[in-house]
Amino acid sequence: MTQQRDIERAARLLLDGKLVAFPTETVYGLGGDATNDRAIASIYAAKGRPQFNPLIVHAAEPQVLDKDVVWTPLAEALAARFWPGPLTLVLRRRANSAISLLCSAGLDSLAVRIPAHGLAQELLRTARRPLAAPSANRSGKVSPTTAAHVREELQDRVQLVLDGGPCALGLESSVVDLMQDQPRLLRAGGLTREALEAFTGPLTKGLDEASPRSPGQLASHYAPGPPLRLNAASVDAEEALLAFGTPLPGAARTESLSETRDLTEAAARLFAALRRLDRPDVTAIAVMPIPEIGLGEAINDRLRRAAAPRPGDRQSQD
Ligand code: TXA
Ligand code: MG
Repeated sequence: MTQQRDIERAARLLLDGKLVAFPTETVYGLGGDATNDRAIASIYAAKGRPQFNPLIVHAAEPQVLDKDVVWTPLAEALAARFWPGPLTLVLRRRANSAISLLCSAGLDSLAVRIPAHGLAQELLRTARRPLAAPSANRSGKVSPTTAAHVREELQDRVQLVLDGGPCALGLESSVVDLMQDQPRLLRAGGLTREALEAFTGPLTKGLDEASPRSPGQLASHYAPGPPLRLNAASVDAEEALLAFGTPLPGAARTESLSETRDLTEAAARLFAALRRLDRPDVTAIAVMPIPEIGLGEAINDRLRRAAAPRPGDRQSQD
């Protein structure tokens, strides 16, 4: 487990332009100094991202970002209610912001989040710098929810991995775009639509895929190796099963998201279960139906992407 001296070492590495993976309440992030262009470029290189998708900038508290983004009244209300926590806000970027332009990837916006995890908070306060951090997986893989997942995938591409144990939520943050009059939910995530809409009113869902504002919205984004069959009512003998509730009989291998149909437990287990099923002897995965309520919306979103046909190019994946 991580000690104070690990956090101090991590902060020094970050200020030196190096990359450090750290836990958040959602998933592990691959962090770099958000004001350092070279550090941000090396994040894209480490992930093997084929294109520069915009990155979320993390800070210990909202005031740190006053020089970087324009707070709207709705942004302030959402921040007061849900931060620190699993919510990312896409806001207008200020012209004089010192945040690397690479974080915005050519957009006039910046995605910002205040994470709740104690280790993430300590790291941000020790480094005294906002940190850009995408999920700490290689491009095209599901997000890591343990330090071991990060080490398996990034190995020597990251200088240090801070270990905070398994992530409590296990799903990425919900991304809300406040750039237009009408707020939009660009990515369903760890904060439910129901909780958000109490503040925002009805949220438009994302964008059409022709002009993605949030690349994470594209179909075929989170992709384990074997094909997925959703809403399965039965299992074929050669299929593995991703179960929700009492497992269907007859599967070659079963991973349970939640025996008791608890969506919070299912979210926390989802990515680790998909990783365990991503192996050569699993040729197909049947997935039991999951209700489209609360965290079920984000879980189903990730499963639909994992099940989507995959074109030869993997450009859309981060
Ligand atoms: O929970 C999380 O959000 C994790 C932890 C580490 O904070 N981070 C994460 O980052 O999932 P990443 O890079 O894997 O996903 C960020 C999502 C992508 O879908 C990206 O397209 C979107 O946020 N995004 C980032 N900046 C944006 C912007 N300026 N406008 C629209 N979408 C943006
Ligand atoms: Mg990601």
